[in-house]
Order: sequence, then structure tokens, then C-alpha cells
Amino acid sequence: MYPIAEHVSLKNLNTFRVEAHARWFTEIHQEEDLSLLFADQQWKGAARLVIGGGSNILFTRDFEGLIIRMNIPGITHQIDGESVLVHAGAGVVWNDLVLYCVERGFAGVENLTLIPGTVGASPVQNIGAYGVELKDVFHSCRAYHIKKGEVITFLPEDCRFGYRDSIFKHELKNQVIITSVTFKLSLNPQINISYGAIRQELETRHIDEPGIKDVSLVVSEIRVSKLPDPSTIGNAGSFFKNPVINEQQFVHLKSAFPDIVHYCLPNSTVKLAAGWLIEKSGWKGKQIRQTATWKNQALVIVNVGSALGSEIYDFSEEIIKDVNEKFNITLEREVNVF
Ligand code: EPU
Repeated sequence: MYPIAEHVSLKNLNTFRVEAHARWFTEIHQEEDLSLLFADQQWKGAARLVIGGGSNILFTRDFEGLIIRMNIPGITHQIDGESVLVHAGAGVVWNDLVLYCVERGFAGVENLTLIPGTVGASPVQNIGAYGVELKDVFHSCRAYHIKKGEVITFLPEDCRFGYRDSIFKHELKNQVIITSVTFKLSLNPQINISYGAIRQELETRHIDEPGIKDVSLVVSEIRVSKLPDPSTIGNAGSFFKNPVINEQQFVHLKSAFPDIVHYCLPNSTVKLAAGWLIEKSGWKGKQIRQTATWKNQALVIVNVGSALGSEIYDFSEEIIKDVNEKFNITLEREVNVF
């Protein structure tokens, strides 16, 4: 088992690149390491935080407990007729999994190209982009149940997936640690270009019958043009969720703001583009000391240098306040704040 280190800097372990320290820190390289770790009562009772790529976390202070970094490697697959099961360790970088699939013609994850983070974190957030969510390709995952001391398999119906949401953020928060995920992909691509930006980009390139490689390439280019690269500028992708409101609230808002960007959902609910709300509240590209919103996408907060986590948090509070004053909508953070 990887040793337990003390007073470890987290600066290179979170994509916001804010400084904070973990009182204790360990890495897990194989599923069995977890039973070894939790055989010690000290860690069973300790405050714990499990991280993958650190791409959805904002540390506002030191973490006075044990940080467990999931680093289980490995991708394998199994073809059965037209369907393919791809199995990946929790520590696999999400985009490496996407590339593995796209190169082999396994369809289903191409719209999720370049999402930062690791495979183990993907079901927690039910990551999604350009019309596809993880739940659309999720077959099952294995997770270590800390209290029970055993590994359990979760099927889709066990996970209660929602928009950027799952049971792992609620009842099972801090109870289980995902060790691997199996995806159900296909050799017979059902290309999803429902998202306008993808369709437009394909049209510009005169690609009439796109394959999954085309979709992956186009998604990657759209992301690069809109979103800051976490390896060069600290950020955690969308900082807030897109708010979902009821039809009545929407009718009211639409009369005051006719051009409000929205998507109608089932059950008479409407999802609003938080980026638009933030931009219209005057925050696009705005910078306070070392924290700013991204110039091409106001939903992303960036650390332009050496911002403190607490400064980024305060910045986000100001955004919430202004959006609330203007639209009477309370934005919810998508990133986990510690
Ligand atoms: N918009 C603005 N101003 C902005 C940003 C957006 O007016 O500064 C409006 C535009 O009309 C734009 C629309 O909002 O067309 C939607 O923007 P975008 O296509 O960038 O998508 P989003 O709703 O802002 C969501 C996800 C992203 C994902 C994209 C593409 C959430 C919280 N975010 O963003 O996910 O890449 O859709 O599918 O759902 C992430 O989770 O970290 C992330 C980047």
C-alpha cells in the first residue's frame, strides 16, 4: 500500500491550482489497497476526502483529515456482437478513456471528449457535455463500501443519476469509493449532433456523414475555443449548475427578459443557461485581484495567478448575489467547496 504522507501540498492536485494542505494523504493503486487502508480504525473514523483529477474541487482552507487520491489504472474491453463493454480503473484520465474508445471505433463517449477529471469521478457528477451524459453509456461501477468493508457493484438504477447528480453525492456521500467503471458502448454509432454548436461546426467543415472521430475532433475544438485549459490557467470548468425552474417562473422571467437562453425540459421545467445570466449581470470577463470569469464563457471562474481558494469563493458569492438581484434566481455551485 502507498504510504500515508503528512502535510502534503494540494496545489498540484487541484485544477484551480490553489494552495492548501492535507493533514494526511495517500494514493490508492489497486482495489485491495482500500481494505488495507480501512483495516486501520484511525482512517475509518477520520475526516476523509476522495479525489481523482481534482478538477471539480475548490479548497478554501487546509484539509484537516485524510485525502485519498484514486490512482487505479487500466482499460480493458470485451466485444459482444455490436456491443462493447469497456472497463476502466477509477484513476484513468477521462480523456484517455475517450481516446481509447474513439480510436477503436467504440461509440458513445465521443461527445464527452476533453472533459477534465478521472473515470472514478465521472458517475458521481454524471458528467455531461454536448447532449450526452455519462448515464447514457454507464453499464455499472464497482465501489468499496467503507462501513461494510466490501466492494459492491452498482447498476444504473442504483445510481439515481440526475443533471450533474447521483446517489454518490447524497446518501452514499463519504460512504463508498468508486474503484472502476464499466461503460456500455457500441460498434454501430448513433451519432448525437443535437447540440447546435456541433452541427454548425460539422457543416462549416462540409462533413455530411460524421463518424465518431469527427465528432470527437469537433467537440475538442469547440471546448478549446470556449473553455480555458486547466493545465495553463487554473479553473474547474463550469463553476455553477444551469438552474432548472418551473414554467410559471419562466413565463415571468421571459416577459422581463425576452432573449433569455433556455432549454425546455420534460415535466414543465425549464433549464436556463447560467453563463447567460452571469453575463447579463455584468460579470463576463470581470476580474477582482487574481480571480476572474472566463472571457469566452462566464460560467467558468479562473484563477489568473495566485488567487486563494477563499477569494475564489467570495468572488462566486458576489456573482450569486448579483444574479439573484437581477433575475431572482439562486445559482448553485457545481464544484465541491472545502
Ligand atoms: N452563454 C452566454 N454567455 C456565456 C456563456 C454562455 O450567453 O458567457 C449562453 C449562450 O447562449 C450559449 C449557452 O449559454 O449558447 C450555453 O452555453 P454552452 O454551450 O457553453 O453550455 P453551458 O450550458 O454553459 C454546459 C455544461 C458544460 C458543457 C456544455 C456543453 C453545465 C453546468 N455546464 O455549459 O459543462 O461543456 O454545457 O454541453 O451544465 C462542466 O460541467 O464543467 C462543463 C464545462
